[in-house]
Amino acid sequence: MDKMVVRGGHQLNGVTAASGAKNSVLPLLFSTILADGEHVFHNVPDLVDVRFAASLLESLGCETSYKDHTMRVTVKGVKTVEASYDIVRKMRASILILGPLLSRFKEAKVSLPGGCAIGTRPIDLHLEGMKAMGAEINVDSGYVLANTKRLQGAKILFESPTVGGTENVMMAATLAEGETLIENAAKEPEIVDLANYLNKMGAKVEGAGTSIIRIRGVEKLKATEHTVIPDRIEAGTLLIAGAITGGEVTVTKCAPADLESLINKMRESGFKISTSGDSVTVHRCKGWHGVDVTTAPHPAFPTDLQAQFMALMTQSDGTSVITETVFENRFMHVQELVRLNADITPKTRVAVIRGAPGKLQGAPVMATDLRASACLVLAGLVASGETVVSRIYHLDRGYENMEAKLMALGAQVERLKE
Ligand code: EPZ
Repeated sequence: MDKMVVRGGHQLNGVTAASGAKNSVLPLLFSTILADGEHVFHNVPDLVDVRFAASLLESLGCETSYKDHTMRVTVKGVKTVEASYDIVRKMRASILILGPLLSRFKEAKVSLPGGCAIGTRPIDLHLEGMKAMGAEINVDSGYVLANTKRLQGAKILFESPTVGGTENVMMAATLAEGETLIENAAKEPEIVDLANYLNKMGAKVEGAGTSIIRIRGVEKLKATEHTVIPDRIEAGTLLIAGAITGGEVTVTKCAPADLESLINKMRESGFKISTSGDSVTVHRCKGWHGVDVTTAPHPAFPTDLQAQFMALMTQSDGTSVITETVFENRFMHVQELVRLNADITPKTRVAVIRGAPGKLQGAPVMATDLRASACLVLAGLVASGETVVSRIYHLDRGYENMEAKLMALGAQVERLKE
């Protein structure tokens, strides 16, 4: 398994570009099942998870091709409605194929995704939404078996905002009979991006980005073209890479508005951040303060930037209390940061970070999940000596060419093929 060697002590300066959003392109790819024809997506990041999604579509009988960040998906019905365990177990987001299959083909057999490192990740809210629309749902031998004569519009109130649940129900409702109302919907930018593509295909979705989404069912949708929004989590990660080394880094091709909660917290901590058009710049900073962060659904501070921000707080001149409210086990990176000599006290969902600038010492550490791997690379940028991050395949799931982008900014990072 590949490792990443990070040699600390090099300030990052310069300009880098964000790639397309992983968490937008995945539901977009699965929405293609709703309409025959050739779907064309631009600004698609070259990620392991994107390849997994393409292989799932191919297993259903679709054709896909990827070149120069453009993904083409040709759908001519499906040869099966089964999303196998072998594929779903590799990528939980595969559960998003359920809504499109059920809505258009009236049946679906999708493996339960199973848990992952950051939590049990249940799909009960997804299934309750489908049941509310009239689907018969059974779970048998690790598979969700769903069927319906035709989904019916329904009023669905999520007990807590769920990104995937909102996306699955929104896609399913586009071809249902009648109107569906989703209340307490998730408001992430990726949901707006998906709604925009569904409407381009001829769906009638209103309110995406707010907590109430209204979808009026239509008879048929048609394939069309779309450009994926920038990845706000990658952009935030690159900004923090510049910030933690005290350098000046500009991230272009991003959406500053989607980074508001991170920008506010970095400013509160003492960083000067400027934005213009599609770029955000963090300016050189000699020292910053500890600030408290609580993760929560958008537009609050994103859970997907929690680990990266924690690395930044290890270099503050004070104390930071980070509270993780979205996932029950998203502090695996804490023990690895402690191996680098960080002073962090983890509790169940709260971690207290006592900042100590310049005190991190390079060491071998292990990535446990996608964002934890990014956090450890960031910490390695400022640790003395070498930090060797193992299981770096986690990073490749959600970051396109991270080491190339960091090296171009002046980082000393190298991938060791093992
Ligand atoms: C999406 O996951 C993202 N993944 C995650 O990004 C992100 O962390 C998460 O949203 C929160 O923003 C993709 O978009 C592919 P949820 P999702 O449903 O949809 C509970 C990354 O690093 N829940 O909003 O799975 C769930 O356990 C990944 O890029 C239920 O209880 O997140 C969690 O505690 C990690 N029942 C909370 O809700 C359900 O049926 C939020 O989950 C569904 C969710």
